[in-house]
Amino acid sequence: MLNWDEFNEVENTEKTKQVPQEVVKEAVKQTAQETEEPTSKEAISSVQAGDRAQLAKEAIENLDATEGEEELEGQSGRVQVDDKAMINCRADLNQLVPFKYDWAWQKYLDGSANHWMPQEINMTADIALWKSEDGLTEDERKIVKRNLGFFSTADSLVANNLVLAIYRLITNPECRQYILRQSLEEAIHTHAYQYCIESLAMDEGEIFNMYREIPSVAKKASWGLKYTKEMSDPSFQTGTVEADKALLKNLIAFYCVLEGIFFYCGFTQILSMGRRNKMTGTAEQFQYILRDESMHVNFGIDMINQIKIENPHLWDDEMRHEAAQMILEGTELEVQYARATMPRGILGMNANMMEEYLQFIANRRLVQIGLEEEFVGATNPFPWMSEIMDLRKEKNFFETRVIEYQTGGALNFDE
Ligand SMILES: [Fe+2]
Ligand SMILES: [Fe+2]
Repeated sequence: MLNWDEFNEVENTEKTKQVPQEVVKEAVKQTAQETEEPTSKEAISSVQAGDRAQLAKEAIENLDATEGEEELEGQSGRVQVDDKAMINCRADLNQLVPFKYDWAWQKYLDGSANHWMPQEINMTADIALWKSEDGLTEDERKIVKRNLGFFSTADSLVANNLVLAIYRLITNPECRQYILRQSLEEAIHTHAYQYCIESLAMDEGEIFNMYREIPSVAKKASWGLKYTKEMSDPSFQTGTVEADKALLKNLIAFYCVLEGIFFYCGFTQILSMGRRNKMTGTAEQFQYILRDESMHVNFGIDMINQIKIENPHLWDDEMRHEAAQMILEGTELEVQYARATMPRGILGMNANMMEEYLQFIANRRLVQIGLEEEFVGATNPFPWMSEIMDLRKEKNFFETRVIEYQTGGALNFDE
């Protein structure tokens, strides 16, 4: 099983591979020679402040613009809508318009209209409750810690995938614009978890190492690393059927499982706590995060379906089977997480109810990417979760301070 140590080891090995020792030595030698030349330090320090502008003018006059043109070769000219593609696009990616993927641009606008920051949420009641000896049961404390432990590191993994892999491999500017927005939101989520951990004066070492030390948390993290491995390799390129399939598979793991299943048990637990007037600040942070995550999943599903439409040859029987398998594996891991975090009934729920909820979510993920439901007849035992995803319905759900960022953009969550 791949763990974070191995992942870091692979990353470091890759880095060492990219820059062999001899190259480093040669570069150091060259730099040393250059600094010995009279044009370096003393020459530069003798340039008077007034001369700098003149030097800059001369540099611009002598600028060789052909270097930039060479880079844009094959992409020059005005982009037409038909030139655009989800993957392997050769059109100029710097031209946002004309829009082809309006849904991506709309999600960027909607996400921006829902901007929020963790410090705006009042944590006072949480701090008092967490400190009081009989405020929470041991089981409730465990749920808060486990979830902060999983999510604080899981969102970093999600952000790494977005900025280091998905942004590079998705080749149209509308989707990239949303991916940038999503990346900011993931940073805000990591900030929110850190804010809770700090406010509650938790043992940071314990919380941030749960993904290594607690099996049900570690398994989810290592599953995520394993199924996003191909696209996380900095040398990975699309353009062959095999590579394009690997990307599509990784995207399904990322959006349908990491974002689409792995958040649901923990979020339901924390939000249920908030509904019972416990840890209302933490619950409110999670409420805002869940609203963002819901849009991330919907964006990912639109992206996956669009890639399928543009590349129908990738969506063969084997890919369908593997996609369903990943969603079901993710569901099983989340059910195990539910059993580990809720050995007994708690907060009006238990592991069996959570299992049914996760089956209901898994069915939705399967159907959303064009596959058949697996768990026939599974229903949603927590209908209030769907309502929480749309803050417009219950703005002051936990009656703590809420700053209204919504300035436009209709939100429709259909889960
Ligand atoms: Fe997130
Ligand atoms: Fe997300």
